[in-house]
Amino acid sequence: MRIAVFGANGPTGRHLVDQALAGGHEVVAVTRRPGSPAARAGLAVAVADATDPAAVDTAVDGTDAVLSVLGTPFSKETITTYSASAIVVTAAMARHGVKRLLSVSSNMMDPHWRPTGAHFFNHVLDPLVTRRLGRTLHADMRRMEDVIRGTDLDWTLVRPSGLFDHPVVTDYVTSQTSADGVFTARTDLAAAMLRELEEGRYVRKAMGVVTTAVKPNTVKLIWNEGVKKK
Ligand SMILES: NC(=O)c1ccc[n+]([C@@H]2O[C@H](COP(=O)([O-])OP(=O)(O)OC[C@H]3O[C@@H](n4cnc5c(N)ncnc54)[C@H](OP(=O)(O)O)[C@@H]3O)[C@@H](O)[C@H]2O)c1
Repeated sequence: MRIAVFGANGPTGRHLVDQALAGGHEVVAVTRRPGSPAARAGLAVAVADATDPAAVDTAVDGTDAVLSVLGTPFSKETITTYSASAIVVTAAMARHGVKRLLSVSSNMMDPHWRPTGAHFFNHVLDPLVTRRLGRTLHADMRRMEDVIRGTDLDWTLVRPSGLFDHPVVTDYVTSQTSADGVFTARTDLAAAMLRELEEGRYVRKAMGVVTTAVKPNTVKLIWNEGVKKK
């Protein structure tokens, strides 16, 4: 398949591009930064802001599927990147007859998501830290989910938990609506998306994905994802 990857140059996107190429797909890596990722066989780079209709139109033209792992850091200000890019990308897909879309959001989009046994996370970290720091980001993710659900595309909303870096794909679990776990390795998120692209088990559904085999250091993760990334 020829796949457009939005956010290809980000920490999950780089895994997604590597794994897709290794799996025999052709990739159009969409990034705002010219010159990255490095050129390789099977890889084309499209320089585009995902909210720019003309640039997105060119990037999506001739692809069979779109996978989006783009994201933005927490902010106190209103965030619009997720919903604005979803409007532009889904319109381009409709114009070019590209039906399949996998777009990352978060397990937090499920209001009933409370990972089993994660008392500190559920009662302290999540309500007092993550949801406060991420309030405007999660509001825009919800708008993005609504935009995507409102299309005729074959979409899957891919919902990870707290992302962390791990060098290899591990055992991960997927589940409809959300998945029971606090963490998701970026390698596993990428692998789950490519597997779903092949299998189509969650078409027009949300798919939670969590890592079960390894755990990151929670304090380090909050520092890396919530503070350092800003
Ligand atoms: N961190 C967590 O714990 C967590 C939890 C649940 C869900 N998520 C979600 O998982 C996804 C992947 O996260 P990540 O940490 O791997 O990536 P990320 O750092 O959030 O962002 C990935 C890439 O998005 C691209 N991007 C941002 N705005 C763009 C725009 N307007 N047009 C085109 N590209 C744009 C940037 O690439 P360029 O600068 O190259 O254009 C960036 O490198 C994100 O949607 C994130 O919100 C994260």
